[in-house]
Amino acid sequence: MTPDPIGAPMSIFKPDVLAGKVAVITGGGSGINLGIAKAFVAHGASVALISRTQSKLDAAAAELSPDGAHARGWAADVRDADALGAALDAAAEHFGAIDILVNGAAGNFLAPAAALSPNGFKTVIEIDTVGTFNATRLCFERLKASRGVVLNVSATQAFMPTPLQVHPGAAKAAIDKLTQDLALEWGAFGIRVVGIAPGGVEGTEGMKRLMPPGMEEKMRAALPLGRFTTTEEIGEVALFLVSPAAGYITGTTLVVDGASAMPISGVFWQATRAL
Ligand code: HXC
Repeated sequence: MTPDPIGAPMSIFKPDVLAGKVAVITGGGSGINLGIAKAFVAHGASVALISRTQSKLDAAAAELSPDGAHARGWAADVRDADALGAALDAAAEHFGAIDILVNGAAGNFLAPAAALSPNGFKTVIEIDTVGTFNATRLCFERLKASRGVVLNVSATQAFMPTPLQVHPGAAKAAIDKLTQDLALEWGAFGIRVVGIAPGGVEGTEGMKRLMPPGMEEKMRAALPLGRFTTTEEIGEVALFLVSPAAGYITGTTLVVDGASAMPISGVFWQATRAL
């Protein structure tokens, strides 16, 4: 797909599919979440980016919307409900509403469970799972008013047993459960709650941190599609999930992993494909 000037792909969606919508994106300063922000801005939305580092948010917002009209960042740690609440209030006041919440803030590192400290486990659960609940709960009234959408960023580790990933695996599995339970409770308010579980995404911090050294080519070759996904592809799927085209989808976490987490993929697939 050919990128447009802000790096969003030439999309199959109408450029005004999110016209006038306001999206809050936690962790929106980089990686998958910045890719989602690009897709949303390219389709008419304004985005409020929230993460810990203001300078990173400012740089991302300037890239997304050079005149500042459609993107702005507010620094807050999603673990700190008071600070997060203040950032959400400021964003809602600035842009006038919250129609979409993307819970993307996440922490991760490779660590064997036997060497992971209790605080290391707790830290990832607090950023991913507690942070997702905090933002979603704090946006409830505004999402109710807009009959909005929550999009939770999950990962295949949520359902695929993965070595060195007990902490994000547990955190993301809990997020998928939040997606289901909140969809059930909040459907009556017109709020949809959906998730997206990407496989490996090229060029992201997560990929850099999680790829065992020297393994990238080997892993790519073992993937059914022979490649990882891109932030642009995830942005397109996110657009679909928050758009009216997905109006009857709620409680669902869409796996976007090129079948990499299917039981038959990986080493066995690689070993048999030449037969
Ligand atoms: C072992 C580690 C560690 C590491 C941190 N800890 N990094 N343990 N190996 N590499 C432990 C620390 O020792 C400490 O426990 C505890 O975690 C808290 O560490 P702090 O540095 O004090 O916490 P904090 O400053 O809050 O930040 C930690 C962090 C951060 C959030 C984990 O380092 C981080 O993740 N940054 C990357 C953000 C990122 O890349 N996000 C995208 C993730 S990718 P002790 O016991 O020593 O006090 C992604 C996609 C894949 O999510 C998803 C897969 C499911």
